[in-house]
Amino acid sequence: MEGQICLFTTRAGIPVTNITKMADEKALSYIEASPQEDASAYGANYGAHREGMTKEEVAEYYSKWGYSGKYEEDLCPERYNGPKYGAEALVEAYPGNRESIHILDIAAGTGFLGEELHKRGFKKSTRIQLKACLQWQEKRTLPVENDTYDCTIIAGGMGEGHIPCVALHEMIRITKPGGLVVIVMREEYLDYVKEYKDRLEVLMQELEDAGKWESVSRVIVPNYSFDNNGVIFKYRVC
Ligand SMILES: C[S@@+](CC[C@H](N)C(=O)[O-])C[C@H]1O[C@@H](n2cnc3c(N)ncnc32)[C@H](O)[C@@H]1O
Repeated sequence: MEGQICLFTTRAGIPVTNITKMADEKALSYIEASPQEDASAYGANYGAHREGMTKEEVAEYYSKWGYSGKYEEDLCPERYNGPKYGAEALVEAYPGNRESIHILDIAAGTGFLGEELHKRGFKKSTRIQLKACLQWQEKRTLPVENDTYDCTIIAGGMGEGHIPCVALHEMIRITKPGGLVVIVMREEYLDYVKEYKDRLEVLMQELEDAGKWESVSRVIVPNYSFDNNGVIFKYRVC
């Protein structure tokens, strides 16, 4: 295929193509330098984030990856620390009374974040899966009442063809005033992913300027996903 590189076939059986520029080079150098298991896991994850992927392709990819039985092994804690970082961010925000904090875990996947939250004393979390979330791209609303949750959180749900910027409006709408919105994502997606580049943080700021929420923190963390940094955004809804 002209203009495309096929680096490898993922465990889900999907050839990884359309890999471009920086992301391509990073993937290659990680794969070359890593043991086979890690390289293969990196490739499987990369397959969910190929440039130009549509939301339907992303959904299908996760579904196949999940059914292949390898998703949880590929994104085990040593390789993917989003759930741990997400849970720790909430521990910091809620030093006590964790049992009653009602959390919406958006893009919950197989529930890694819920498990980490439960270990840390949070007992009330609700998962929302891709199928429900896809509505916010079409209808721009989730089937959830206003001011429902104490906290809404996304860990690992941002990326190419993943959760769009418009989701921020919905997260604010369904979070109670005074509640928290937390987004844990790979730092470099702020630059790689067209949907977010010069848009996501601009929108975050616009929402703050409009008095919808206020920033609590923006923290860069190491080894969020494989050897990549993560960024954790924490906002308090006004
Ligand atoms: C890397 S997994 C993270 C799963 C989970 N949050 C965790 O940390 O273990 C990314 C998840 O994002 C979901 N996802 C992708 N696009 C989405 C969208 N537009 N809306 C909601 N979820 C989406 C996928 O279905 C997948 O479960």
